[in-house]
Amino acid sequence: MTTLPASSPSRGTVTIHTLQSKKARKEPITFLTAYDFPTAVALDRSGIDGILVGDSLGMVVLGYENTLPVTMQEMLHHCRAVSRGVSRAHLVGDLPFMSYQASTADAVRNAGSLLQKGGMDAVKLEGGRDRAPAVRAIVSAGIPVMGHLGLTPQSVHQLGGWKAQAKSAEAAKILFEDCLILEDAGCYSVVLEAVPTEVAQLITQRLSIPVIGIGAGNGCDGQVLVVHDLLGLFDRFTPSFVKKYADLFSEMERAFKEYISDVKERRFPAPEHANSMDSQALRDLIREINSPDREFEGEEKIRYH
Ligand code: KIV
Repeated sequence: MTTLPASSPSRGTVTIHTLQSKKARKEPITFLTAYDFPTAVALDRSGIDGILVGDSLGMVVLGYENTLPVTMQEMLHHCRAVSRGVSRAHLVGDLPFMSYQASTADAVRNAGSLLQKGGMDAVKLEGGRDRAPAVRAIVSAGIPVMGHLGLTPQSVHQLGGWKAQAKSAEAAKILFEDCLILEDAGCYSVVLEAVPTEVAQLITQRLSIPVIGIGAGNGCDGQVLVVHDLLGLFDRFTPSFVKKYADLFSEMERAFKEYISDVKERRFPAPEHANSMDSQALRDLIREINSPDREFEGEEKIRYH
């Protein structure tokens, strides 16, 4: 039997061309993040177009304050888990902070690792005109690149916090130019985060590549959310642009409390959760334990009723 590697093109049915065709047909593109195997399996089975292994994992899975501490090793660990669970969705791995900013050589090497060792189909990086040389270098190595503009969490200190972007005409014009520069540098898609609906819509109409929005209104070619936000699994804060489709953190707490109480009250494990011994085998065991050779002074005999 021939086993195909996780990154084989025949594994996935959603490619960058599928996404491009969806834009042409004005068919909304669906993306969500995932960081582990079971979530990836569930998303793939649900028919999602693309899965982003975002560096948001630093916050929602690893408990960091922001995405800055996330390393390539951590990204690869989670990319591999996700890619093992996916057979059709398009897979994008985030390049973490400082894995592509210092040099184009770093950018190409680390992007290559996300495909070669992480099983991804494409990489995502943050930033506009300053990142164009890195985008060109990665694309010329044969690796599809998704851009990310607007609220770019790796620049949270430079942006002065988690704030909506491009609200003034001047800032929106710079964002517009950055999008065109990324498209020209070879990005196959761009994520727009926390920008006004009108700005995102104008950019979507102007770009020939798919624009995926998060907190960017309903006029983009597609949408992405952090899966922990959608499921209500992250209790620290939820951005206002998120729609919670479940409240799994509360459900998890409820289940844990019920388990603790069941164990304390000896309701768990019930007989159906345990193995029983054949009654003859048990009698033999008790006879053996109670035999005079094994008896210690003062020890009571075990009885079987
Ligand atoms: O890291 C991430 O999950 C992201 C999305 C919010 C787009 O970049």
